[in-house]
Amino acid sequence: MINRPQTLGEFIIDHQRDFNYASGELSQLLSSIRLASKIVTREIRKAGLTDILGASGVENVQGEVQMKLDDVANEIFLKALKNRGIICGLASEEMDSYIIFDEEKHAESKYVVLIDPLDGSSNIDVNVSVGTIFSIYRRVTPVGQPAELKDFLQPGNQQVAAGYVVYGSSTMLVYTTGNGVNGFTLEPSIGTFQLSHPNMQMPVDGKIYSVNTGNYLKFPDGVKAYIDYCQDKDPDTNRPYTGRYIGSLVSDFHRNLLKGGIYFYPEGTNAPNGKLRLLYECNPLAFLAEQAGGLATDGHQRILDIQPDELHQRVPFFVGSKHMVEKAMTFM
Ligand code: AHG
Ligand code: MN
Ligand code: MN
Repeated sequence: MINRPQTLGEFIIDHQRDFNYASGELSQLLSSIRLASKIVTREIRKAGLTDILGASGVENVQGEVQMKLDDVANEIFLKALKNRGIICGLASEEMDSYIIFDEEKHAESKYVVLIDPLDGSSNIDVNVSVGTIFSIYRRVTPVGQPAELKDFLQPGNQQVAAGYVVYGSSTMLVYTTGNGVNGFTLEPSIGTFQLSHPNMQMPVDGKIYSVNTGNYLKFPDGVKAYIDYCQDKDPDTNRPYTGRYIGSLVSDFHRNLLKGGIYFYPEGTNAPNGKLRLLYECNPLAFLAEQAGGLATDGHQRILDIQPDELHQRVPFFVGSKHMVEKAMTFM
């Protein structure tokens, strides 16, 4: 018999029972994310050939320039998640408010999804890796009623699953349901995701620091002192660290997950809570980091314990190898 890696579909079915509420709905939900990510892959792979690059001409609710591909990716995920009738609501970085699905086929739906459909938009036009980040919760309001804001404003420690897709030199889907982290690589000739990175562990130490040092002068003193520490020479602690900053959070996170490292986007005089969004970016990556043995904080407290009070809330974010994040915290 030919030996081949397990496909994502096979893996989901095999592990359905590891999950507390094994009704099969979460498996269906993950498979609609899998489908959408393949369609987005197709659009991204031919992006330079079609009229899909550049700005869409509108700003999103957060006042950021929306790229055409932001919009395209948002539509693709929205449709895939809606069509199967398995979620009762969706919130996206690219939409002003959440959407409720309350037609007949969603009547029994227990889950809500929060998504950053295209992360790293500024890299689209220059053919650099971008990603998708997703976060899944069980609703707190009763099944059968329209979803409410409080279904979306749950702390990250209530996530039932989270993951990302990185559209890099290959497309990879990495996710957790709270039983470790597994990574799947898209085999383009047959269009299936295959288990390429089982049980991913983030090294507890690393040599990479990822931060936009262009903001150095705007950072608080503690952050400046930590950056100086990263750049200081001390062979016993692998310093100076190597600086790596792609500007696509998913890609920076993915590299640090594999190699060990720290990513941070702190508050600054221009952005009192940093730039990254708690619900669409920080919570899902914090869940993955912790499941892989890493840490994620806002500089003071665990990201997953923050009680959100608005959909598009931003927080300072420090994520990565356990010892590196712990060290960074001593400077804050
Ligand atoms: P998005 O494209 O979803 O708006 O996210 C962009 C984020 C993140 O991917 C990246 O790490 C960060 O913005 C880069 O911001 P700076 O250019 O300010 O460093
Ligand atoms: Mn993003
Ligand atoms: Mn985005």
